[in-house]
Amino acid sequence: MQDKMPGLRRAAATGPAAKSYVARARTHPDWRKSPPVRLMLLAAMMIIVVLLLNTAAKADNTPTNKYVAERIALMSAQKNALQDLIAMTRDYIVFDRSGAREARRALIRSTGRIPKHFRRDVTDLSSHARGGIWTNWDDFTIHAKDTQNAARALNTRSAAGLKRSLPRLISSCHNCHQIYRITPREFTTH
Ligand code: HEC
Repeated sequence: MQDKMPGLRRAAATGPAAKSYVARARTHPDWRKSPPVRLMLLAAMMIIVVLLLNTAAKADNTPTNKYVAERIALMSAQKNALQDLIAMTRDYIVFDRSGAREARRALIRSTGRIPKHFRRDVTDLSSHARGGIWTNWDDFTIHAKDTQNAARALNTRSAAGLKRSLPRLISSCHNCHQIYRITPREFTTH
């Protein structure tokens, strides 16, 4: 039964019935199948898709509030400084005392700015800040202070010293995030 079917279909497609279908299609062309209209429809659909993707990306990533943008920029800068230091202890980049000292100073400065950058109780779609920051303000600032102390305690004299003193800083970043930051989709430890 099954192996007879392809044969039957072939016969129908090449038989007189198929011819008359083609002729009908030519005399009454379906406008949706005419090439220019098809192209225009395709282009319109693509534009809509791009617009949709764009707004979705905006809602996710682009801070719309100036204060939110600034506090996220502060955090990103801390991450970069920390990543440089971590790279030095893992030999991804050569240990360089003045570079390490600079990163330490940047971290002391930026952790000192955390309270100022989070003072305003504002948020937007890009933010991962928890509302608890503003109802537990004293505790939040203690976490910022702990982190600044850990940055001060970084030993930048040698790769070994850095390696010993970095974990305290990393865990103080992490401690605050665990309480006051909504875990973003991708898993990050700091
Ligand atoms: C006192 C609390 C606190 C401390 C300490 C802290 N953070 Fe944050 N961090 C936050 C909060 C809250 C957010 C979420 C901010 C938002 O999305 O509005 C955040 C967000 C971040 C982000 C994500 C930024 C983005 O692109 O969305 C990074 C990266 C980050 N912190 C790195 C660090 C590093 C590195 C340290 C330690 C040197 C640190 N943080 C210390 C509270 C803290």
